[in-house]
Amino acid sequence: MKRSVLSNVHSDKLFEQIYDYLLERIRRGEWRAHGKLPSIRTLALEFNVHRLTVFKAYQQLKQNRYVYVKDKSGYYVHPDSTLPFDSQHDPIISAYVHDSHLSEIHQVQATYQFSKALLDPNLLPNLYFSEYVKKVFDMYPKVLGTYATIQGDEELREALCRYFTDTHGFYLTSDELLITSGSQEAIDTVARVLVKPRDVVLLERPTYSPAIDVFRRQGATIVPIEIHPYGYDLDQVEMCMRTYKPRLFYLNPTFHNPTGYTVPAEQRKRLVELAQTYQCLLIEDDTYRDIYFGEEPPLPLFAYDTAGIVIYLRSFSKYIAPGLSIAAVACRPAYMKYLIRSKSLSDSGTPLLSQKVFLHYFFSERMQQHIAKLRIALAVRKELMEEELAATGWTWSSPTGGFNLWIKLPESIPMEPLLSKCIEHSITFVPGSICDPLRELKSWVRMSYSFLSEQQLREGLQRLIALASLVDTKRNQSEHS
Ligand SMILES: Cc1ncc(COP(=O)(O)O)c(C=O)c1O
Repeated sequence: MKRSVLSNVHSDKLFEQIYDYLLERIRRGEWRAHGKLPSIRTLALEFNVHRLTVFKAYQQLKQNRYVYVKDKSGYYVHPDSTLPFDSQHDPIISAYVHDSHLSEIHQVQATYQFSKALLDPNLLPNLYFSEYVKKVFDMYPKVLGTYATIQGDEELREALCRYFTDTHGFYLTSDELLITSGSQEAIDTVARVLVKPRDVVLLERPTYSPAIDVFRRQGATIVPIEIHPYGYDLDQVEMCMRTYKPRLFYLNPTFHNPTGYTVPAEQRKRLVELAQTYQCLLIEDDTYRDIYFGEEPPLPLFAYDTAGIVIYLRSFSKYIAPGLSIAAVACRPAYMKYLIRSKSLSDSGTPLLSQKVFLHYFFSERMQQHIAKLRIALAVRKELMEEELAATGWTWSSPTGGFNLWIKLPESIPMEPLLSKCIEHSITFVPGSICDPLRELKSWVRMSYSFLSEQQLREGLQRLIALASLVDTKRNQSEHS
């Protein structure tokens, strides 16, 4: 790229073009992790721009953790920003493929999968479910011969609209709902429509790991917002909204993944006000709402929004029927038409069969009774896990819903040796760093109690605790002294 390519732009924008150019080459794997990048002087000569312009581009790449600096030596590629070795050199991959850190852990075959925030299939009413599939074929004999509309089945959208209005106090019409194949697709669609390179995106720290990967892929500049057992520090949120003028804040305020924390109602109202003041969209991911162990959680942020600043993503896959992968997006028409356009580029609508089965299954009385039983079963598993962990001295804040415990281990237990030992012994968990937009939080782990049976939970935890004590440097030191 020579200056001629850049010359039509205002000089303020030159550094952004150099930034994009370098980032694109880094992400394509043209330079390896820890590889040295061209010097400021070389690039300034190549593009015929002032050195300060290149410096500014490098500074921003550094701030976004795409590069790092070695004193007096120059800029180097940050290991988090490159492709895994395979896809860099595989001749069949002509485009570039982005990392999905969580899916790498999920690919490990293990007996004790604490890494999976999925429901134990034995907790689902499988027989009852198959009756519904049959019923749907009887009601809609041509269901397999028909595409749904891209926005989703009208009958389902109408039913969900009534449900959201009655149970969550939403004001919306069926035109303001989009059906997606799970909320992962919803996050991806929202990101493609709303985020362009260098837009600032606020993400909770920690957060749902694939969301970090999605927003990074869009080239967003990610600014973390700490989430605590009591919610957010709203002064921090306001400061970030005022200073960085973010495009959006992606948040999971109810039984948050990975921590299980829930943001209280007063904070929700204030957050919506702040979002309106600073024109920052709130992307509310509400995946675990129905899995509460005591009182129902506070209303979604969407219920407090009168200005169309909240986009609400509601997954039903986790505890209704993961195999159907149904989610809904609620938003105002200004955004809806773009979301529909974007979805039309990735599929021809979520399968109609899944939507019809979900419709009849979800709204049946027996299904609602089943969710009530599920809450009890999951609360029992959570308590069982807490009992096993009680003697370790590890710390966590007991969640009032959801699928996960977010646990702090002592610093003397190093994460990588622990994970390798566990994988050797057929145990997996999610290391906290992959849920952290800054890739730190090295002493934290996410352990799910939803996927394993009660017996497996006990056995797996006893083994994991024993392995943790083997790699504990404090224990090893005292044994050698
Ligand atoms: C917070 C959060 N959002 C979205 C998803 C994706 O859900 P779905 O299965 O509906 O794609 C998950 C799944 O783990 C999640 O925990």
